[in-house]
Amino acid sequence: MTKSTCRDTFVIHKKKLQNDYYSLVLGPLRKINHCQPGHFIHLQVPHTDVMFRRAFSIASIFPEQNALEIIFKVVGRMTRQMSTLKTGDTVNILYPLGKSFTLPRKSETSIMVAGGVGFPPLMFLTEHMMKRGYDPKTIHFFYGGRTSADILCRSRLKRTGVLFHPVTEDGSFGRQGLVTEPIEEFIKFRKKDKLRLYACGPEGMLKAANNLGLQYHIPGQLSLEAPMPCGIGVCLGCVVPLTAGGYARVCAEGPVFEVGEVVL
Ligand SMILES: Cc1cc2nc3c(=O)[nH]c(=O)nc-3n(C[C@H](O)[C@H](O)[C@H](O)COP(=O)(O)OP(=O)(O)OC[C@H]3O[C@@H](n4cnc5c(N)ncnc54)[C@H](O)[C@@H]3O)c2cc1C
Ligand code: FES
Repeated sequence: MTKSTCRDTFVIHKKKLQNDYYSLVLGPLRKINHCQPGHFIHLQVPHTDVMFRRAFSIASIFPEQNALEIIFKVVGRMTRQMSTLKTGDTVNILYPLGKSFTLPRKSETSIMVAGGVGFPPLMFLTEHMMKRGYDPKTIHFFYGGRTSADILCRSRLKRTGVLFHPVTEDGSFGRQGLVTEPIEEFIKFRKKDKLRLYACGPEGMLKAANNLGLQYHIPGQLSLEAPMPCGIGVCLGCVVPLTAGGYARVCAEGPVFEVGEVVL
């Protein structure tokens, strides 16, 4: 397990993406190469009235700047405060936290299943694989949102050369429907033992992705979200039931779990 660090750092760059989504680049940070796809940070802004830190997946690292990126959506008090941060402002982060994704074999076809704010860790995983010489045509990136504005960083994804499959519920971008529908069609015509599934997104989408993995015997991993008061395995505020019995802490044993490991 990677040792985590708690430290003050700065907003190096802030960008408003679409709708209520923002990108923040934070640094300088030591040991940035220890951050792997699937890891998350636990963030606090100074002088806030929000008691607990909040968790955000690492969306990218920039080793030459000793910096990392998070992408977030404004949904409540903390994310609203984060959206007002400016370049040079200080934040405090605990990083890297949690268990990272396991990379697929190069001979396997990866199916990325991203929904809403589940997109950042899968984008990091994709870019990480590209840097390690994976063939981009072995990655099918299925990205679902309610509407066109929920599908972020399209040109960045396209630049990686992966096969991009956008899906929106209202049909305003890409195919219309739920993201898991085209995935099932895709899976049906493939050799199942050459596939690997990676999913992160809303609960319903994770459940559907988990079921597809189980139904078609496709191994893979899901990155879960849960309320995380401490983020370091102490408070038990983030536990989820395991199919084998007992519970696991999403912040410590997760957030990445194997398909079929957790009761969803
Ligand atoms: C491991 C992990 C990784 C995460 N990675 C990211 C990430 O990369 N980007 C990101 O934007 N968020 C991510 N989240 C979710 C993020 O932690 C929450 O959005 C954040 O805690 C909300 O804080 P808040 O104070 O703004 O909202 P709160 O006041 O805590 O919540 C406001 C309202 O929004 C709802 N809400 C909370 N979270 C979400 C959500 N994710 N989507 C929709 N509604 C929500 C709550 O139920 C509540 O009704 C991650 C969570 C975990 C556990
Ligand atoms: S958030 Fe405290 S144990 Fe996971």
